[in-house]
Amino acid sequence: MTKIPPLDLTQQYKTIQGEVEAAVLNILASGAYIGGDAVTGFERQFADYIGTSEAVSCNSGTDALYLALRALDIGPGDEVITTPFTFFATAETISAVGAKPVFVDIEAKSFNLDLDLVEAAITSRTKAIMPVHLFGNPVDMVRLGAIAQRHNLFVIEDAAQAAGAEWQGQKVGSWGHVGCFSFFPTKNLGACGDGGCVTTNDAAIAEKITMLRQHGMRQRYYHEAFGVTSRLDGLQAAILSIKLKHLDQWNEQRRAIASRYGQLLAEVPGILPPQPTADGMAVWHQYTLRVQPCGASLRCQEQPCGDDAKANVSANCRDWLKEKLAAQDVISMIYYPVPLHLQVVYQDLGLGEGSFPVTEQAAREVLSLPMFPELLSEQQDEVVAAIQQAASALMA
Ligand SMILES: Cc1ncc(COP(=O)(O)O)c(C=O)c1O
Repeated sequence: MTKIPPLDLTQQYKTIQGEVEAAVLNILASGAYIGGDAVTGFERQFADYIGTSEAVSCNSGTDALYLALRALDIGPGDEVITTPFTFFATAETISAVGAKPVFVDIEAKSFNLDLDLVEAAITSRTKAIMPVHLFGNPVDMVRLGAIAQRHNLFVIEDAAQAAGAEWQGQKVGSWGHVGCFSFFPTKNLGACGDGGCVTTNDAAIAEKITMLRQHGMRQRYYHEAFGVTSRLDGLQAAILSIKLKHLDQWNEQRRAIASRYGQLLAEVPGILPPQPTADGMAVWHQYTLRVQPCGASLRCQEQPCGDDAKANVSANCRDWLKEKLAAQDVISMIYYPVPLHLQVVYQDLGLGEGSFPVTEQAAREVLSLPMFPELLSEQQDEVVAAIQQAASALMA
């Protein structure tokens, strides 16, 4: 059996190889390597796709978040509410501008910020809420927007994993004051290198980000702020323009795969497939299920986890299942094994184990299955068969 990888970028490349190669050669011949029509053209297309008036590209999703925070004048003394169950860059950028990330626990069902808990975390120092549409699953932006409005807070959407996702028919990245996207190659809309973008309906914010991304210059060699150098290059922009045309189709394929996983895994003991929300259209950046610990129906008898799962995350049912799948050439992933409040760099926040129980439980139970638009049904069947085999072999 050949290995089933978590994702396979080469399959997608084959489907657009001719188009991409022509575009790349065109840029190489044009000499417009930084900036130029390919970049401004892509920015216009991406803004139109997301449904905002502006899109300002930059070098990464991390830079998009950083630039957005800077453009909103968030810095030392300010607090930004966000989730501890996300990729590190979300909170890292808050810290990078000198502000404090204030973590709020997640909702068990969606893995996203628990909106019931957000208001209690707001203080006089709170400047913004930074929701993350984790795994491509949209946050309830109507509810979150209402909370932000009541307290006069900015909303910075971390949409790095959610290009194309919608809440009530409106794209994520167009709800907040700013939306931040990553074009890291593995993302739903991925470049062939690093890339990112900020979307907004506020021309002044877009202008400020444009200034900050090029050394704080509006006029060449006149520096009005300490900025950064963070640009999307012409080659990446040309590639992204091609890929953007296919994004809806690819996201549709992801949705079909997710729906099939859901059907096939519905009855497997110990496995809790993700539940899509009715008002949200997820784009399934990851297909992330929960593996219930011993005491539920899946029994990792070879390495019983029992109550010490908390203390030893490397010996729980989820890790055991991951190993079983790997032995069958099915490669699964854990996003994310260590919540942000338990990372060494956030020790000074004084938030120990037990601070965010829903997040901590998710970190022990989540497992992401192979997910990419070109995943074949036969491969999917093999993934499911490997899970079923592990589960059934161990039923009490
Ligand atoms: C939720 C989230 N935010 C931010 C980022 C940062 O994006 P990049 O890797 O392009 O800097 C990522 C990338 O993995 C992400 O998943």
